Amino acid sequence: MTVKIYDTPEVQDFLKTVAGLDQAGGTERAKQIMHRLLSDLFKLIDDFDVTQEEYWSTVSLLNALGGQTQFGLLSPGLGFDHYLDMRQDAIDAEAKRNGGTPRTIEGPLYVAGAPEAEGFARMDDGQDRDGETMWLTGQVRDVNGNPVAGAKVEIWHANSKGGYSFFDKTQSEYNLRRTIHTDSEGRYTARSIIPSGYGVPEGAPTDQVLKALGRHGERPAHIHYFISAPGHCHLTTQINLAGDPYTFDDFAFATREELVIAATRIEDPAEIAKRELEGPFSEVVFDIELDKTEAPELQVRHKRPRAKEDAQDQASQLAGTAEV
Ligand code: BEZ
Ligand code: FE
Repeated sequence: MTVKIYDTPEVQDFLKTVAGLDQAGGTERAKQIMHRLLSDLFKLIDDFDVTQEEYWSTVSLLNALGGQTQFGLLSPGLGFDHYLDMRQDAIDAEAKRNGGTPRTIEGPLYVAGAPEAEGFARMDDGQDRDGETMWLTGQVRDVNGNPVAGAKVEIWHANSKGGYSFFDKTQSEYNLRRTIHTDSEGRYTARSIIPSGYGVPEGAPTDQVLKALGRHGERPAHIHYFISAPGHCHLTTQINLAGDPYTFDDFAFATREELVIAATRIEDPAEIAKRELEGPFSEVVFDIELDKTEAPELQVRHKRPRAKEDAQDQASQLAGTAEV
């Protein structure tokens, strides 16, 4: 026999006390959100007749997730990042900002302060022997098709083993991370290596959660972008390479049809020589369209804790945009 106590006055009063609703201090929003969150969880415990064992093993799992700073990894796995994107898309549609390349999630592996270059950068340090040479290029345009010169294009991606520099200590500093400012025609070009998909570490707390749901923790090969330019909406996006087994089965739900790009293998010696490469390579072309905005806060990425980025950087970013 299962008991139901959620709707009793005693539990309802208790929830108000726990959420501090009868206290003068704190903030109203924190109280309201905590009250709602606890109410939903208390009800869930009642409805699913959650046992002591289930509750305390969940506490232990949360401790493990926090101890290994994996909430930023679990968050996209449980769809929160994509849900926030869906909400932002709806906010943009409501405000009639309908143009531009689609956004998709940032993920937890960005590192601020990558080396900057004009027009072209080599992103790899030449140490990854398994990495196929990638020629990554494109043009940044506004919604009317005009090139955007001087746009800031930040690119980061994994190596041939799916690892990211900074988090993977075997890689050199800022390997596969660069900021490229577009040339007078709005173009950016990078020489790099074709990345492999990322996989959640086997046995990690995030993996345990996914396994309990019968899910895997794999991402397809992908390349991350932040693109910004004065007078235009900041864009956080990524491209997923076509043909990866996980292109349409991404555990982080980042794939969008418009962002799936095929890499073209090029073996023509003239094309190799033109790019001063040593042999055959794969070309990836990703053109980006930015929507216009006068609002300074839409011209910069939203705030969140990021590796090597402090509040000061974010404040100066915002100030820089407000000047134009
Ligand atoms: C990534 O971008 O590689 C990533 C995104 C979400 C979770 C884990 C990794
Ligand atoms: Fe990634």
